[in-house]
Amino acid sequence: MVQLEPLAPRADPEPRDPSPGHGGSATGPSLPTVRPRRLRRTAAMRSLVRETRIHPSMLVAPLFIQPGDRVRTSVASMPGVDRLTADLAVAEAERLARLGVGGVLLFGLADAKDAEGSGAWDDEAPVQQVLRGIRAQGLPLVTIADTCLCEYTSHGHCGSLGPDGDVDNDRTLRSLAATAVSQARAGADIVAPSAMMDGQVRAIREALDGEGLTGVAIMAYAAKHASAFYGPFRDAADSAPAFGDRRAYQMDPANGDEAMREVALDVAEGADIILVKPALPALDLVAAVRARWDLPVAAYQVSGEFAMLAAAADRGWIDGPRAMDEAVTAIVRAGAGIVITYAAGDIAARIADAR
Ligand code: PBG
Repeated sequence: MVQLEPLAPRADPEPRDPSPGHGGSATGPSLPTVRPRRLRRTAAMRSLVRETRIHPSMLVAPLFIQPGDRVRTSVASMPGVDRLTADLAVAEAERLARLGVGGVLLFGLADAKDAEGSGAWDDEAPVQQVLRGIRAQGLPLVTIADTCLCEYTSHGHCGSLGPDGDVDNDRTLRSLAATAVSQARAGADIVAPSAMMDGQVRAIREALDGEGLTGVAIMAYAAKHASAFYGPFRDAADSAPAFGDRRAYQMDPANGDEAMREVALDVAEGADIILVKPALPALDLVAAVRARWDLPVAAYQVSGEFAMLAAAADRGWIDGPRAMDEAVTAIVRAGAGIVITYAAGDIAARIADAR
């Protein structure tokens, strides 16, 4: 073994306990024999031993589709994210596909809303138009339709209201099933029910199968918290509840065991992909789902997670791209094989630039 110069004066004359990895000596401070820094010395070495890599194909970009033609509307709380009309959204999907992004998750805005949210299953709605447009172009990315009613209901809740003002679970299941069928017929590869109604995965699976749409997959928002991090989304999608909040259907962010029960139900009901949302505030759940189930795990880095990074970067308080890459890497490290992120295009472009 090469003998190194001691790093510090030999103050301690006592022999040290030669614990594993540390060469104790009677004459000097024990020097480490195990040196993790060896693997950090050069960029090439760090790259060789990197454990977690983001690939553009695992990223999904949410898109907000508004009625009309050739209109792009910025969202103040989400810099760089625009609401797009169907024509522009198909062009954006084409740009994302060129960057190798794996998929798009479509949210629709409605001109006319009603108590049931019937615009969600209108075959001519903006989301359905985009699904047909992407299908017609044969773009090599996966189309995912958000299956929920809050953007389409006049009251902004995720389903029909009962007489008590609470969301009527079982009536809402019929609307969600009709929405999923309309989206699947328009060309969705995946439908993603996010309303947090009990039994929604089974209701949608049965409806799809009943229409012969057996090949359309379900990405279940299995563990979805009633999170404060959805604020900017509700601006973008114009879907804030007109009264009350969503705590009677979305989960208490304090609960992890309940999240596991929700996942177990969705798996039993036929979910093909399990989604955890939000992502960074629920990394423990991402890891737990990864460990317990062998279905693909997706995590949704939601609007508030995006907005807080963007706002801090805008003030010069953090390095925005590095912080974003670190956050998404952490989500993947925790166990997500799919990450839904508003930065999907930016991240994919950075990966392409780095090559
Ligand atoms: C619809 C839905 C929401 C989000 C995704 N689907 C809003 C909500 O539950 O209030 C939030 C996504 C985000 O914040 O980026 N139910």
